[in-house]
Amino acid sequence: MSKFRVALSGDFKKPDGSPAFPDFDLSPLERDPAVEYRFIKANGVIQAADLEGFDALILLIPRIEPESFPKDGRLALIARFGVGYDTVNVQACTDHDCALVITPDGVRRPVAVSIITFMLALTGKLFGKDRITRRGPEGWARRSEHMGVGLVGRTFGSLGIGNIGAEAFRLARPFDMKFIAHDPYADPAVARDLGVRLVGLEELFAEADVLSVSCPLNEETRHIVNAERLALMKPTAYLINTSRGPVVDEAALTSALQQGQIAGAGLDVFEQEPSPVDNPLYRLDNVIVTPHALCWTDQCFAGIGAADVKAVFDVMHGRVPTGIVNREIVDRPAWREKLERFKATFGA
Ligand SMILES: NC(=O)c1ccc[n+]([C@@H]2O[C@H](COP(=O)([O-])OP(=O)(O)OC[C@H]3O[C@@H](n4cnc5c(N)ncnc54)[C@H](O)[C@@H]3O)[C@@H](O)[C@H]2O)c1
Repeated sequence: MSKFRVALSGDFKKPDGSPAFPDFDLSPLERDPAVEYRFIKANGVIQAADLEGFDALILLIPRIEPESFPKDGRLALIARFGVGYDTVNVQACTDHDCALVITPDGVRRPVAVSIITFMLALTGKLFGKDRITRRGPEGWARRSEHMGVGLVGRTFGSLGIGNIGAEAFRLARPFDMKFIAHDPYADPAVARDLGVRLVGLEELFAEADVLSVSCPLNEETRHIVNAERLALMKPTAYLINTSRGPVVDEAALTSALQQGQIAGAGLDVFEQEPSPVDNPLYRLDNVIVTPHALCWTDQCFAGIGAADVKAVFDVMHGRVPTGIVNREIVDRPAWREKLERFKATFGA
């Protein structure tokens, strides 16, 4: 093993060969003479032949299934570009002694900023004011109909107080709001340090003036925001969803918004993505929508890329990377042996 060989899924390049995400800085890999990296063709499920002879993979969209793992057994790391990994068969990674890592450090701040952006735009009636301004004097004359909502003393609630939910509270500190959250798995010490009162699910819906959803999508949380719970919300309250579309029952939310049951919503994610052009939500003035990309900034992509590159270097030098999804890998002798071999070859 003379080089540490890194594969990047081919969708990191545009069809014309230019980088799809120029802010993803590959220069640390380029600069290290012990590293060799290649873009592999990537469509659908990555095949074992494509990963033959590689030690690590940085993965964008393609899927990973059992048939993705070569018999040479070299692959020790799959670093997903982002935090979603529904495209990766986690058990197959473990079975093939390969760590799967995601990049919570890369998305924490950018997605939390998205939540705050929605909160300020909704409560400040930003888009309504933008619309009337463009209508000239006739629109300006109607500005008192677009009174915003001040935040001091109002309640900011979060469903989920993990990586992103906690950061949203950190960013919201200067607004002097009350903080509440519901999270059955929350660390009470984290909540206490953030000044967040942990409450029951129903209380969260009933008390929040701005309710942000930051939990994962799983069988427990699918449609956790449903008609019944939306009915508990104040008619003046706003819902923000930057998590995953199916956490919210979109039909129920549409109806709640149409009927003025809640004041408005900021949505970055949808039950179906891309969401179709005739989605009734698009016709509502009290909704702000973004295409699962409000957090996409130069810094977000640079941060995600840097986290993946760091994971590559960690494994190459025999260190356990952060952000491992299949935690049990850490105790698997065969994976540990790979790390030891890398350390012996490339140094600690
Ligand atoms: N919009 C985007 O571009 C974007 C980008 C990154 C992540 N996300 C999404 O944001 C969400 C949060 O991500 P994260 O990195 O903070 O994840 P995380 O795992 O760090 O935090 C999720 C929190 O939700 C809690 N939770 C689990 N089940 C719950 C339940 N039934 N009710 C309430 N809380 C529950 C967990 O205990 C955890 O504290 C995820 O859905 C993720 O997919 C979206």
